[in-house]
Amino acid sequence: MSSNPHDDGVVAVKDFQGLARAVVPEHLWNYLSDGAGEQQSLMENELAWQEPWFVPKVMAGLSEVDTSISLLGRTLEHPILFAPTAMAKSYHPEGEAATMRAAVRTSTTYIQSALSGVPLDELGAIASQGSGSWWYQVYLHRDRSLTQSLVESAIAAGAQAVVLTVDSPTLGARDNDRRHDWGQMPDDGIAIHQRVFNPMLDSDFSWKDLEWLRALAADVPVWVKGILRADDAIAALDHGAVGVMVSNHGARNLDTIIPTAVALPRIVDAVASRAPIIVDGGIRRGTDIVRALALGADAVMIGRPYIWALASHGEDGVAYVAEVLRAELAMAMALVGVGSIKDLSTDILWD
Ligand code: FNR
Ligand code: LAC
Repeated sequence: MSSNPHDDGVVAVKDFQGLARAVVPEHLWNYLSDGAGEQQSLMENELAWQEPWFVPKVMAGLSEVDTSISLLGRTLEHPILFAPTAMAKSYHPEGEAATMRAAVRTSTTYIQSALSGVPLDELGAIASQGSGSWWYQVYLHRDRSLTQSLVESAIAAGAQAVVLTVDSPTLGARDNDRRHDWGQMPDDGIAIHQRVFNPMLDSDFSWKDLEWLRALAADVPVWVKGILRADDAIAALDHGAVGVMVSNHGARNLDTIIPTAVALPRIVDAVASRAPIIVDGGIRRGTDIVRALALGADAVMIGRPYIWALASHGEDGVAYVAEVLRAELAMAMALVGVGSIKDLSTDILWD
């Protein structure tokens, strides 16, 4: 692979998928790529962003296209964040550090997964070399003192927000992981990530635990990730979340779960302008981002695409993903005739 992904034929983000597949060992490829069950929702996550049709405005007098957003009082150059993904180091020796460097280079907010075990002060030090913003994602571990110490370490290392993932009381039925037994452990039909992660992840949690985390995080805002229902979005805000992340966990756990593009509008209606909303799942193009923002999301996250790029091209690949998506976003905004993100609305979507 060359250091410039373009030289390897990468034009769009999905071009990294095939390149990654060629270099990632099969068991890790399965863990990265697969959805749960028949993988229906994995496919639908992408498809659902392809409609409603755009109905562009013409003669819109666009002197410039501005991709910046304001999120919780901070200006971000663009609305694309890197979603938390476990064990990035499995895909590249510099894993999370390379991703953080790419995030700093491209002014992308990187949400670091708690299931990674990288030294948080190392990541904090990289972020502080630029205007890098990074957040920290946690699960509620059975041993709450583990969650507590992870959150405290992340905040001490400079994490600017905490993200509580609430959609995984257990991991789902990922057939290839089960078939090939992730990590070549002795086969009892239950893959290692399920053996390792499930005993750690608690399924006995409720909104009280969010209040506990909210108090623990003190001044640092807490997001809740994994919301698909309006009532849960409101409950999250009522129990102290600063904003909600509409996510079905990349369709990795529950197959036939609603695609996030379909779930988003009702949550937007319920939350109105009370709090920010971030959405992820199947976002692969600038047009997907425009649609998400037009439907009322404040920002989007991407998961698999930056790991594909990390696997094939390391830091440069990850940076390229952010750059390509930002460039496609600007193109799509110009083509629908809207020059700033705050002006994107359902007005440009056919109803
Ligand atoms: C994830 N995701 C995830 N989410 C989370 O809150 N904590 C985690 O540790 C992980 N780990 C993880 C590993 C891998 C390999 C993937 C692909 C995903 C889910 C992730 O944050 C995000 O919600 C989805 O990946 C978004 O969908 P796309 O962009 O991958 O389609
Ligand atoms: C996953 C967990 C670790 O989706 O979040 O694999």
